[in-house]
Amino acid sequence: MTPQTTKKTTTQTKKERIAVIGLGKAGLPLASVIADSGFKVTGIDIDAERCRRINKGENPLGEEPGLDELIQKHGGKNLTTSTNYHDASHCTLFIVIVPLFLDKDNTPDFSAISAAFKGVAKVLKQNDTVVLETTVPPTTTETLVRNWLEEGSHLKLGDFHLAFSPERIMTGFSISRLREFPKVIGGVDEKSGRQAFRIYRQFIPNLKQVSSARAAEFIKVIEGCYRDVNVALANELFQIADSLTIDFYEAREAANHKYCDIHLPSTGVGGHCIPVYPWFLVKEMERREKFSYAQLLRTARVTNDEMINFWAGKIIRECLNLNKPLSKVKICIKGLTYRKGVKETYHSRNFALAQLLAKKGLDTYAYDELLTPKEIEKFGLKPLQPSKADIVFDSFNLIINTQTHHQ
Ligand SMILES: NC(=O)c1ccc[n+]([C@@H]2O[C@H](COP(=O)([O-])OP(=O)(O)OC[C@H]3O[C@@H](n4cnc5c(N)ncnc54)[C@H](O)[C@@H]3O)[C@@H](O)[C@H]2O)c1
Repeated sequence: MTPQTTKKTTTQTKKERIAVIGLGKAGLPLASVIADSGFKVTGIDIDAERCRRINKGENPLGEEPGLDELIQKHGGKNLTTSTNYHDASHCTLFIVIVPLFLDKDNTPDFSAISAAFKGVAKVLKQNDTVVLETTVPPTTTETLVRNWLEEGSHLKLGDFHLAFSPERIMTGFSISRLREFPKVIGGVDEKSGRQAFRIYRQFIPNLKQVSSARAAEFIKVIEGCYRDVNVALANELFQIADSLTIDFYEAREAANHKYCDIHLPSTGVGGHCIPVYPWFLVKEMERREKFSYAQLLRTARVTNDEMINFWAGKIIRECLNLNKPLSKVKICIKGLTYRKGVKETYHSRNFALAQLLAKKGLDTYAYDELLTPKEIEKFGLKPLQPSKADIVFDSFNLIINTQTHHQ
C-alpha cells in the first residue's frame, strides 16, 4: 500500500452520514469540524444533558477557541446528538472517541471503549466504516475492537471496514489543530485503510495514510513517550545540578543547540495523555515478558511522578530558614492547571505537590489565576492569594519566593 498525503479538503459530494461517539473535549470539536465541512453528523454520548445543550446550539464544554461558533452554527442542524445508538443507524462512518483510563495498577481500563463499540455493533451494516480515535495500546483495533464489532453485529471484517486514526488535538487549540496539524490513519486491512482515508480526507486537510492501524496506534503512543522521557531527563539533570550547586538554567542554555534540546524541569507531567501513554507500552512488554524492553519508559514515568518529593524537600528546607514554627509557615502552591491558559487539572503534579505538603501537616494553600477560590476548595485545597503567603512555589519559574514582609 502506498501511503498518501493530501493538503486540501476535497469538494466531493458529502453523502456520508457520520456518527461521532463521545462528545468530550476531543470528540465535540471533531464532530463540529466535520459538520462544518458539510456533513450531517450524529453525535452519540451517554451524557443526556450534554446532548441536549449541543442540540440547542450551546457549547457544554469550557472555553475552546472557535467551538462556541461552530456549535451555534451546526448544533441541532448539521450536528444532532442523542444518547441512543439507534439514532445513528443511518450513518455509514462511525468514529469512536471515548476515554481510556488506567486502573490503580496502571493497566488500561477498556470499559468505556468496549461499551461504545458494543453500541456501534448494534447498528453496524454491510460496507460501513468504523474508526477509533482514542489513544490505545498498539494492536487494540485489530484485536479487541474487531472482536467487539464482529460479536455484536454478526458481520465479519470485510463486510465492514475498520481503521485507527489518533486524535492529535490539544485543548485550547482543538479546532486549529484539526484543520492544520498532520493526522495519520491506518486500516486493519488494506481495503479498510483505503476506505477510511477516502472519507477522512474530506474533513481532515492534512491527512497521511500509514500502512496499518497498528502503526497508527504506535505513532500516537511514541509521541507521548518521547515527551515523557525528555521531561524526565530534564528533571533528573536538574536534580543533579541542584546537588552540585550548578545553575541548571545557565547550563541548559549553553548546552542546547541543533542536536541537543534539553527540556525544562518541572514538578512532573500532567494531563490525560503523556503520563498515561508510556504505560501502554510498559504493560504490553510486561505481558509479553519482555521486561527489559521498556525500562527507560518505566523509569521516566517514575522519575517524573516523584519530582514532587524533590520539591517538597526543597520547600520544607526554605520553610525551616524562616523565623517561624514550621507548622505556622503559610505555603502557597501557585498554578494548579498544567498547561498555560487552559483550565485543566487532570493529573496536575502541582496539585499532587500541594496534597503532599498538606499531608505532611504543613499549612498549605493553592492559587491559580484560572480557578476561583471555590473551585480550589472543591479540590480539597485551601485557596490563598500568593501575596498573603510566606512562601510561594511558582510553577512557571520553579522558584521559591520568600515574602520577607511576613517573617
Ligand atoms: N482532551 C484532549 O486534549 C485529547 C487530546 C488527544 C487525544 N485525546 C483522546 O481522546 C480521548 C477522549 O478524551 P476527551 O478529552 O474527549 O474525554 P472527555 O472526558 O472530555 O469526554 C469523553 C466523552 O465520552 C463520553 N462517553 C463515555 N463513555 C461513552 C459511551 N460508552 N458511549 C458514548 N459516549 C461515552 C462521555 O460522556 C464524555 O462526553 C482520550 O482518551 C484520548 O485518547 C484527548
